[in-house]
Amino acid sequence: MPNIYPKFTDAELKEFSLSREALPRHVGVIMDGNGRWAKKRLLPRSAGHRAGMEALRGIVRFSHSAGIEALTVYAFSTENWKRPRTEIDALFALLEEYFHKEIDELDANGVRIRIIGDEAAFSGKLRDILEAAQNRTVKNTGLCFNIALNYGSRAEIVHAVNSLIESGAKSGEVTEEMFDSSLYTSGLPELDLIIRTAGEQRLSNFLLWQAAYAEFVFTDTLFPDFSREVYADCLCEFARRTRRFGKVL
Ligand code: IPE
Ligand code: IPE
Ligand code: MG
Repeated sequence: MPNIYPKFTDAELKEFSLSREALPRHVGVIMDGNGRWAKKRLLPRSAGHRAGMEALRGIVRFSHSAGIEALTVYAFSTENWKRPRTEIDALFALLEEYFHKEIDELDANGVRIRIIGDEAAFSGKLRDILEAAQNRTVKNTGLCFNIALNYGSRAEIVHAVNSLIESGAKSGEVTEEMFDSSLYTSGLPELDLIIRTAGEQRLSNFLLWQAAYAEFVFTDTLFPDFSREVYADCLCEFARRTRRFGKVL
């Protein structure tokens, strides 16, 4: 039987110094530092990715329990094809393993899985796994868990432009809302917070349009060490920010 994770009560949230009203609705995570984590231990990079998969499991559970509406994680960028073939193969093998091990639990906890990115580049087997996970969870109403795979924000924007043209959109009539609805993230809440691990402070082609008013939190923690406590610290940092959206408060 898959484990069911109850939602945190207000008191449980408080143990992490969090309050429900100050939580972001949609969190993006740039999961970085798996390679450095492995290197520090004289392990192959694939061992870092495996440890990263464990950390991911933790933050999905925490997001679900905290009642966050949407979590979007950057797992493989359009630029990551420049990595050695052995590392790419290890990453995709891990991804298959992740779905194999996690899908029952994710589904039982009401998580809805969405893959964002261009799936056409993947093997038939992986595509089938990804399709099956999305179809199986499509009616779930809990955490929207989006995995950015072969994702690049510039490619997403160009894809959106092409789909608007194909749908017959006329020059001068395209609105921000129409454009937003043509992105892979269509229908998700506005992105409130982007967390990047491992000390880097850049977007690396992640959610460029969606990040327009997101808060950024950077942590030196390498992704495999990104525990629920570190995640909660990032959420606390978000809660301390004043968001003005252009207004005078
Ligand atoms: C994981 O971290 C992110 C992925 C692209 C899967 P990295 O593999 O980029 O780790 P570092 O940056 O080399 O430490
Ligand atoms: C960004 O990490 C992509 C993912 C986390 C999947 P990278 O490690 O590929 O980014 P750069 O190359 O340091 O910008
Ligand atoms: Mg990196």
